[in-house]
Amino acid sequence: MMFERTSAIIKDGKKLSFEYVPEKLVHREEQMRRLETLFRPMITDGLSCSAFLTGSVGTGKTVTAKRFCEDMLKYCAANGKQMDYIFINCRIKNTEYGVLIHLIRHFDPGYPDRGFSADEMLRSFKKHIESRARPFVIILDEADMLLKSSNKDIIYQMSRFTDELRGNSSLSMILISQGQVAEMLDDASMSSFKRANTIKFDRYTKDELKDIVRIRAEEALISGAMDGEVIDLLADIGKGYGDARLVIEMLERAATIAEERSDGRVTADDVRSANAMIYSNVSENKLIALDTKRKLALLAIARAIKGDPYVSITRAEKTYAVVCEEYGQAARKHTQFWTYVQDMEKMNLLDTIVRSEAEGGRVTYISLPDIPPKELAKKLETFLDSPTANNEYEI
Ligand SMILES: Nc1ncnc2c1ncn2[C@@H]1O[C@H](COP(=O)(O)OP(=O)(O)O)[C@@H](O)[C@H]1O
Ligand SMILES: [Mg+2]
Repeated sequence: MMFERTSAIIKDGKKLSFEYVPEKLVHREEQMRRLETLFRPMITDGLSCSAFLTGSVGTGKTVTAKRFCEDMLKYCAANGKQMDYIFINCRIKNTEYGVLIHLIRHFDPGYPDRGFSADEMLRSFKKHIESRARPFVIILDEADMLLKSSNKDIIYQMSRFTDELRGNSSLSMILISQGQVAEMLDDASMSSFKRANTIKFDRYTKDELKDIVRIRAEEALISGAMDGEVIDLLADIGKGYGDARLVIEMLERAATIAEERSDGRVTADDVRSANAMIYSNVSENKLIALDTKRKLALLAIARAIKGDPYVSITRAEKTYAVVCEEYGQAARKHTQFWTYVQDMEKMNLLDTIVRSEAEGGRVTYISLPDIPPKELAKKLETFLDSPTANNEYEI
């Protein structure tokens, strides 16, 4: 029978998809509280409210806006109130027309996709909102895509609704973009969106990413399928970007790769392979740019680390001595090796972390986040065996 084999790693694949909105968002409590403050007048007095969410990719803007609206829905249902929201991704609906059709079809799924002017469509939309007699929130995600194509008018028109709607109806907006979208709006639209309503989303720190991955792994994977150390590695790779999307995508890929084996575990190598597939920073050019001495040091690290997430600098140095002998080169002293490691860290070829050991003292560990060590070793061996690929100048 097809599809018979039960999954050894993934318990609930939906939880790894982009659409999934977790019940609770760690490290976005402050943004949620600010949204709550900004939208309180909508819930208590039926007023129109607005917020701008800004921050770089993967900082949780979209998921926070959705979670917030879902929580408001729940709150209203539990307290005898009503509200509704519509989510629009302006990268997909990047014209005034596309947005209007989407809005109207929320109420009238059979609405024809031609034959009406923008004005007529705005009027239909307004009528729908009025007939529902409840607050409405429109989330315009990636709003800069809409504003870029000079469709500012629709935002202005909708902001004017706020004064015109009667009874219990109101129209509020959450505008999301990476940059400051307020600057792209003209003064007329701006007047109803106060500048003070901007909520910033900073890049996640390594520890924040770790919490996000850990919680997501608990939700999506079979318990025990992933070690804390492997989660640490995922967070390490993501920290340069502060991007939760990247780490969750890597988690999903790594789990899928691991699923094809039968040991029921996601390993550090699965994470590295997943990362190599998605975002490899180790371009061949960077490796070719290394001189022979640094190539030997990196090869030693790749061999010493094997399948582990980290290798201590002491162990890497022992392997380095063996590698130098193999290539007929004199091994450099500890301080020089340490300099190589630091140089290569600057080039994003490796990461170092310092850990306090149980017996006391601090030990430096090296990790290779970007590529499976076996692949890296193979590439370096190829370059070292071909004299023309070696850069003999110091970098
Ligand atoms: N604080 C968080 N807790 C849990 N998951 C998060 C958190 N922030 C982001 N994510 C997840 O990371 C991914 C990217 O988030 P997203 O909201 O799409 O970022 P943005 O819109 O800022 O690019 C999504 O899969 C989302 O579920
Ligand atoms: Mg987004």
